Amino acid sequence: MSAPYEDLKGKVALVTGATRGLGRHIAGGLARAGASIVVAARDAGACESTAREFEALGVKALAAPVDVGSWDACADLVEKAYTHFGRIDVLINNAGMSPVLRKLTDLDEKGFDTIFNVNVKSIYRLSTLIAERMAAGEGGSILNISSTAAALASAPVAPYAAAKGAVNVLTKALARSYGPKVRVNAIMCGPFRTDLTASFIDHPGFQKHVQAATPLKRVGDPPEIVGAALYFASNLSSFTSGAILTVDGGES
Ligand SMILES: NC(=O)c1ccc[n+]([C@@H]2O[C@H](COP(=O)([O-])OP(=O)(O)OC[C@H]3O[C@@H](n4cnc5c(N)ncnc54)[C@H](OP(=O)(O)O)[C@@H]3O)[C@@H](O)[C@H]2O)c1
Repeated sequence: MSAPYEDLKGKVALVTGATRGLGRHIAGGLARAGASIVVAARDAGACESTAREFEALGVKALAAPVDVGSWDACADLVEKAYTHFGRIDVLINNAGMSPVLRKLTDLDEKGFDTIFNVNVKSIYRLSTLIAERMAAGEGGSILNISSTAAALASAPVAPYAAAKGAVNVLTKALARSYGPKVRVNAIMCGPFRTDLTASFIDHPGFQKHVQAATPLKRVGDPPEIVGAALYFASNLSSFTSGAILTVDGGES
């Protein structure tokens, strides 16, 4: 039996949102396990510097600036990755965003569409294009980063919660569509300290809620997502597809 994550060595992983927060730690974990990384995010400079950091770990990395909310840009990203590396073995659909709304009517149509484009449409577009090629080749693993907002139906982020609910359904439907050669799973994250949560995570009211509602009584540190992500990316989860794992300190 090989060492944990051994099968990731020499593989190619495309990680969206790989320049900051959870995606950066997931991509770093994959690089440390020996996978080459396609670093996808909007900020081109951040993609370049992150790719160089991963290369310093001894793997190859490609900076691939992209807005994953665009249907056509997702297709261009896939072509760029296959042209450069000739394969994608792991897709981590991590890029996501949400405004925190005081009043739900504060959101306009463009804002609503952006939430669904970035959180849901990107996953559909990237996963279908890549899973077809994975299924025609040596197979692969797709991991979607969802949120406990979907299960808790969190009110101030209602459109985001609905979008992440769609991510959970897509995860199961894509697992059925592309099995057995492609496995598709999701992690529903609870609150982690990243740029996405900076506006509320240290608010006393939120911290009080975390103390009261979660067995672990604290928010997550981004490195604490890496073990679960490597589990799904690698053969450690070879009999798992369509699963949705909660990593949230025990709240939901
Ligand atoms: N942090 C949490 O507590 C938490 C909880 C539940 C779920 N999640 C989920 O976890 C994932 C990562 O969140 P995070 O907290 O790590 O966020 P973050 O710190 O804000 O990082 C987001 C990453 O995604 C990229 N990104 C954002 N919009 C993009 C777009 N349109 N196209 C391409 N890349 C884009 C960002 O780079 P650019 O700005 O350069 O594009 C950045 O690399 C998201 O799906 C989020 O919904 C997070």
